[in-house]
Amino acid sequence: QAAEKAGYEHFMLKEIYEQPKVIRDTLTPRLPMDQDDVYLDGINLEKEVLEKITRIYVIACGTAYYSGLIGKELIEKYARIPVIAEVASEFRYKDPILDENTLMIVVSQSGETADTLAALRMAKKAGAHVLGVVNAVGSSISREADDVLYTWAGPEIAVASTKAYSAQLCAMYLISMKISLVLGKLSTEEFRELRAALYQLPSQVEHILENANLIEAMAKKHVNMKNVFYIGRGLDYAVAMEGALKIKEIAYLHAEPYPAGELKHGPIALIEEGSLLMGLLGQESLFDKTVSNIKEVKARGASIMAIAMEGNKEVEQVAEDVIYIPRTHWSLVPLLENIPQQLFAYYIAKNLGHDIDKPRNLAKSVTVE
Ligand code: G6P
Repeated sequence: QAAEKAGYEHFMLKEIYEQPKVIRDTLTPRLPMDQDDVYLDGINLEKEVLEKITRIYVIACGTAYYSGLIGKELIEKYARIPVIAEVASEFRYKDPILDENTLMIVVSQSGETADTLAALRMAKKAGAHVLGVVNAVGSSISREADDVLYTWAGPEIAVASTKAYSAQLCAMYLISMKISLVLGKLSTEEFRELRAALYQLPSQVEHILENANLIEAMAKKHVNMKNVFYIGRGLDYAVAMEGALKIKEIAYLHAEPYPAGELKHGPIALIEEGSLLMGLLGQESLFDKTVSNIKEVKARGASIMAIAMEGNKEVEQVAEDVIYIPRTHWSLVPLLENIPQQLFAYYIAKNLGHDIDKPRNLAKSVTVE
């Protein structure tokens, strides 16, 4: 096993550091620089298919579901088709509107999650078109879906998902761009701008990883926190959910993700000395709004950390510890913003002496209900 970890102390850390390659592998073969199109491995999302689609579902569990939330926002924003994102364990026991005009995107690292597979089967039975976003080649979901877009993350060993999530986000970027292009909703100019930004992601992730020692020091400082609130708006809120999940999974700390504007409707009552607030401020159009929510929490005694885009120095007026991510297109912020969250959870768990790769009570793949 030591050899498989390639010198890293844990599989999780190794997988975090594999992300620049994973992003490159998942994106570049599908986004040639010399053609203004997205090539999705022969998947049929052509005009005749898409014009019939009146509704899209994105169905998944756990971390895969959080990547789906980003996909939902982007498809709605660019393609203007209504998208419902839901966890598979809820979806499968409802009476969802499913017909031949429905596209269901199922997202799964393992391709074996029981609830996700059951949702896929429901959709197929109702005549919907199912597109799987899957990492494990040849898995049940990849075999049963009508089409499969593989995330080229390679085997993920650590129970807490890291590189698979980044690859799933890449898949969401590609799918939302493809749908919008085919429907004529994304201009060539916007497409090229997004593609150029996507091509920069691997080196930008490398840049964040090179500064991991700063995040390690912050984790050391905050290791005795009682609870942590991850807040953000828009895409930042979806990223907050993944950040809080990572802390629960491997640090066993109570972590709550919350839409920044909703804090005052309840959770702010829980803030006291010993609470930590992680403010996600990547969405520049919502920056000031979230900063004012952070101020309210700070006034009640919490310690404040923040993740913001380079150049937004004002954040230092409210946060004692700031992690800056390289500047990127607003829709790609989630991928960069999540890397420091992974490292923060990793180093907190390491300081607490937990079994990082095999956290208590959790399984890599939940194949029974
Ligand atoms: C388990 C794993 C998570 C994963 C979820 C969904 O809870 O511990 O890391 O996100 O299942 O798994 P899937 O293989 O469907 O992505």
